[in-house]
Amino acid sequence: MLKLGVNVDHVATLRQARGEKFPDVVKAALVCEAAGAWGITTHLREDRRHINDVDLVAIHGAVRHLNMEMAVTDEMVQIATGLVPNSCCLVPEKRQELTTEGGLNVAENLSKVSKAVAALQAKKIAVSLFIDPEERQIALAAEVGADMVELHTGSYANARGADQVRELDRLIDGAELAASLGLKVNAGHGIDYENIAGVFKIPHLNELNIGFSIISKALFVGLDKAVREMRDLMDAYTL
Ligand code: PXP
Repeated sequence: MLKLGVNVDHVATLRQARGEKFPDVVKAALVCEAAGAWGITTHLREDRRHINDVDLVAIHGAVRHLNMEMAVTDEMVQIATGLVPNSCCLVPEKRQELTTEGGLNVAENLSKVSKAVAALQAKKIAVSLFIDPEERQIALAAEVGADMVELHTGSYANARGADQVRELDRLIDGAELAASLGLKVNAGHGIDYENIAGVFKIPHLNELNIGFSIISKALFVGLDKAVREMRDLMDAYTL
C-alpha cells in the first residue's frame, strides 16, 4: 500500500503566527495517524520558523513513525543522531524561501551528503534524499548509499498543460531509474487532492509526503476528514 506521510509543519506555522501554545502539533500528529497517516513528517528548519526542538522531541515520543526533514548541516545531523527518528529526509534549505525550493544538489555537496548519510545510518535511521528527478542526482543518491529518494513534485504541481505532462514524464523516468538502482521511491511537495491523480502515474512509489493541502483543507472539514480523504484517494494507486 502506498504510504502517506503527513507533514504537520503548518500546524506550527499557525501557532507561531500568534505565539500561542495552540494549535497543538502533537495532537495534530496523533489525529493524522488515527485518520490513516502511516507516518508524520516535520521539518526542523535552521530558523525554527514553525516546528521547534521541543515539538520535534514531543512528536517523536508520540507517533509511530517520524520522518525528520533536515538540512545537511552539522547541527541537524547532531540533533537527528541524538533523537533517532525513523527516517530523515535531507533537503536543501535557504533562509529566505517560503518553502523548500528545488531539490538537494547532491553533486555539489557530495562529501557533506555522504558524511551525513553515513552518520544517520550508523544510528539505523533510514535516509532519504529530496531531489529533482534528474539522472545525475538519482545516480549519486545511490552512490552515497541513501536508502530512498524523495522525488520533488513541486515543478509538476506548479506546471500546467504540456509543461505538466513533461514534468510528469521526468518523474516517471526518475522513479524507474531510482528503483532500478535499488532505491525506494518517495515523492512530495505541492501534492493536492486534484494533482495527485497525475502522481499515480509514477511507478514504484513507496510513500507520499503531503502537508500544505491537507492542513488547508482541514480548516474547512477538520483534520481527521482531510487526512481520510487523501488516504482514500491514495488507495487508487496500483503501479
Ligand atoms: N517533502 C519535502 C521534502 C518538503 O520539504 C515538503 C515541504 O515541507 C513536503 C514534502 C510537503 O510539501 P507540501 O507542504 O507542499 O505538501
